[in-house]
Amino acid sequence: MNRVLVIGSGIAGLTAALAARAAGAEATIVTKARITDANTTHAQGGIAGVVFPDDAHADHETDTMRAAAGLADPAAVRALVTGGTEAIAWLIDCGVRFDRDGAGRLERGLEGAHSYPRILHAGGDATGAEIQRALVAAVRAAGIEVREHTMLTDLVLANDSARVAGARLLGPTGEVRAERADAVILATGGAGRVFARTTNPAVATGDGIAAAIRAGAEVAGLEFVQFHPTVLAAGEPFLVSEAVRGEGAVLLDETGRRFCVDAHPDAELAPRDVVARAIDEVMARQGGRPVMLDATGLGSTLRTRFPTIDRAVRERGLDWVREPIPVAPAAHYLMGGVVTDLDGRTTITGLYAAGEVAHTGVHGANRLASNSLLEGAVFGARAGESAALTPAPPYTTTQEFPAEEPETGVRPNSYQNLRRHVRGELPELMWREAGLRRTEAGLARAAGRIDGWIRDLPETADAVGIETRNLLIVSREIVRAARARTESVGAHHRSDATPARVAA
Ligand code: SIN
Repeated sequence: MNRVLVIGSGIAGLTAALAARAAGAEATIVTKARITDANTTHAQGGIAGVVFPDDAHADHETDTMRAAAGLADPAAVRALVTGGTEAIAWLIDCGVRFDRDGAGRLERGLEGAHSYPRILHAGGDATGAEIQRALVAAVRAAGIEVREHTMLTDLVLANDSARVAGARLLGPTGEVRAERADAVILATGGAGRVFARTTNPAVATGDGIAAAIRAGAEVAGLEFVQFHPTVLAAGEPFLVSEAVRGEGAVLLDETGRRFCVDAHPDAELAPRDVVARAIDEVMARQGGRPVMLDATGLGSTLRTRFPTIDRAVRERGLDWVREPIPVAPAAHYLMGGVVTDLDGRTTITGLYAAGEVAHTGVHGANRLASNSLLEGAVFGARAGESAALTPAPPYTTTQEFPAEEPETGVRPNSYQNLRRHVRGELPELMWREAGLRRTEAGLARAAGRIDGWIRDLPETADAVGIETRNLLIVSREIVRAARARTESVGAHHRSDATPARVAA
């Protein structure tokens, strides 16, 4: 029986653990905060999938490829879309209660760059929270071991470095233990916290990507960071789902003009990168002040269709039923990640990745709205099953399991100060130089400062120290990839490039 260690507890991790267990493996989930502290919990708009008889896999595929500006892998997109129908049926079997109309039919939502209203939602705008609730219950019911407040510090490789042998984990009382596993599945999500403005929760520090990079796994597509166009620009950033625009809300500049109609034939429902840049351009013209999202046409249905957003809007003293609300883009999703095949296998034997941490090739240069939960469900299941069923080849390692490991490094005051400085400055630097618009000069400035911080910051095995280093490593790779791609395509925009390749 394979022992499978799943790192992360969003939709990809929970699904992978359930699939591994169903395929006969001993699965353990390790998560660095509480089991519900995952990006999935915050997903609003929904999950895309072909579930209605008048929709077609070919159309979902075309929409995904178009949004990706042609850079997605067609085989991966096909696996996502065709596997999506089954994955959604499985989620319903697991107890996910998607919203239904009075006749019991699934409600359908529309989001940007979809040619068909194929987005399922739950609790109006609390789709991720409902999926998380149901999958956590399924994990508990299956008796899968869950270790909360336990963080991946590094992967353990066999002596030949070509195979994963386990993982080093930092437990809740500060001890580091090396644990053996036949397979490790990274499902640690993205790295939104690299940027000053993000929709991502505090846990999104790129831990899995950084650990994979340190272990020598191949990563790709890290220049492609998706900036969500409509995030509340009053108080803490809070996502205002694309589904709100799908229901008819429009974006206005300070003069009350609908500027998105000039940017793309689909106006507010153009691919996210197009809408985000159109907003950024208007903001630059109006002195950095946010644009306005006018949802007043939806009237009081806003309160019932979008109760979570409604609460956040009202907490900020705004009333979107009566007046437009200020919004601006924020970092939302990392299209790139650890390179995998369609069964989640990375370039290191025994190491798998699924969900936002992975680069399967389904998102290309820009992810289609609501394809992320779908990706977690489809590829989480494939990775879990594959990790359970692939025989673990023999290997040698000098690492003993389980082994308590001494804490590394020192933490003098100067280190604490530098760490605080990096946590404050790095997200601002990345937002400024590697955000919506990039230039070689800005990226070079960012690279220099990041390299300096990596050099000066000693390695320690405490949670904040590990996260800080992970943020630096992921930032370095984002900047490196952004410098290497000198053209503009999808979410990666080089202001100093020749004319942009634009999504259709
Ligand atoms: C949204 O509700 O706009 C976010 C959904 C997604 O990221 O696909």
